[in-house]
Amino acid sequence: MRRVSGRARGLETVSMGIGDPDRDPPEWVRAILAEEVMREGSHRYPSYKGHPQLHAAALAYVERSFGVGGLGDANVMTTIGSKEGIANLVTALVNPGDVIAMPDPMYPVFGTMSRLHGAETVSLPVHPSTDFMPDPRQYLSSEQEARLRVLFINYPHNPTGQIATRAYLQSLVDYARERGCVIVSDMAYGEIFFGGAGGPAGQTSAGTAARPTKPDSILAMDGALDCAIEMHSFSKSFNMTGWRVGFAVGNAQLIGGLLQVKSNIDSGCFNAIQLAMARVLDDPRCDPFLAENRAHYKQRMEKVIGALEGMGIKVHRPGASIFVWCETPGNVPSIDWCSRLLDETGLVVSPGAAYGQYGEGFFRISLSTPDADIDKALDKLREFVAR
Ligand SMILES: Cc1ncc(COP(=O)(O)O)c(C=O)c1O
Repeated sequence: MRRVSGRARGLETVSMGIGDPDRDPPEWVRAILAEEVMREGSHRYPSYKGHPQLHAAALAYVERSFGVGGLGDANVMTTIGSKEGIANLVTALVNPGDVIAMPDPMYPVFGTMSRLHGAETVSLPVHPSTDFMPDPRQYLSSEQEARLRVLFINYPHNPTGQIATRAYLQSLVDYARERGCVIVSDMAYGEIFFGGAGGPAGQTSAGTAARPTKPDSILAMDGALDCAIEMHSFSKSFNMTGWRVGFAVGNAQLIGGLLQVKSNIDSGCFNAIQLAMARVLDDPRCDPFLAENRAHYKQRMEKVIGALEGMGIKVHRPGASIFVWCETPGNVPSIDWCSRLLDETGLVVSPGAAYGQYGEGFFRISLSTPDADIDKALDKLREFVAR
């Protein structure tokens, strides 16, 4: 029998699926971009490495926000968002037969790009059973360790929203130096944290180690500059996923490798955007805006978690990010549960299995949804769970 979609039956579709901020960047940020767009001489090919003004502002920012100082222009370059940086870095680093270890569940690009380049991927479970901080030694054989080329990490973590402890991050740097591999740290959500709300915090989260109130940069760990590169993005923290701008920072040789690939693939980020972001990072309104944005997501996060817990859904409180990671009720595959939810109520949430095998049993709710839609979504979910 032909299945009739919820929309065809007149159900209103509401999405809490994609992580794409619903709010615009602040007006003052857009005004700066408009000025830079009108500036004469900003419209030719940009430098492949990026604009030195953005590099200087980015280095000052990582020093004030993450305590990572002493870096120079060789340690930084502009990206067209972190997706581009991650994908091109894999091209720069990975050869067929290499082993690439990565979080599971994960942002899919780590795995798809590694496999495209003929690598063997190893899942590190970012899961309640590992307190969301898996020890790579437990998941790689010594034969795989000998071929280990890259260790991907992503804290704050998409999709679970968990932050790592400093001790854990330091142990990863020690491990990478011992094994001679590279750490690629994806910091796309580094500015959206909830000030201690995350981690175990005596809530339903299964964690045991006390989490920091603010995410740490891998580059703040001892010895990290020998082996690590970190991808920062303005997409989520400034509500500008469409601008396509971020930066890579870290080991100079890794920056050089990324530059070599990028210069053969793309032609850099529009100078007006880079100059605007340099001014935004240096502007006295920058840090207050980031704080306001955090408070905004935290308020949504508390509202959504309160409602979910009221429905009896078990939630792993995020310490950061724009996501809430929830256990799928009943013993049903997450894809089936989410499909039924969509079909019967018109509500879109993301099945955990879409992010990896250790995402099974969970679903992800995105907080980048307008408040009125959140209310509708929670009503739909309440009605569905009560059936
Ligand atoms: C973990 C993670 N990394 C990277 C990205 C890509 O971000 P950007 O817009 O900077 O390319 C995303 C986007 O959703 C993400 O969730």
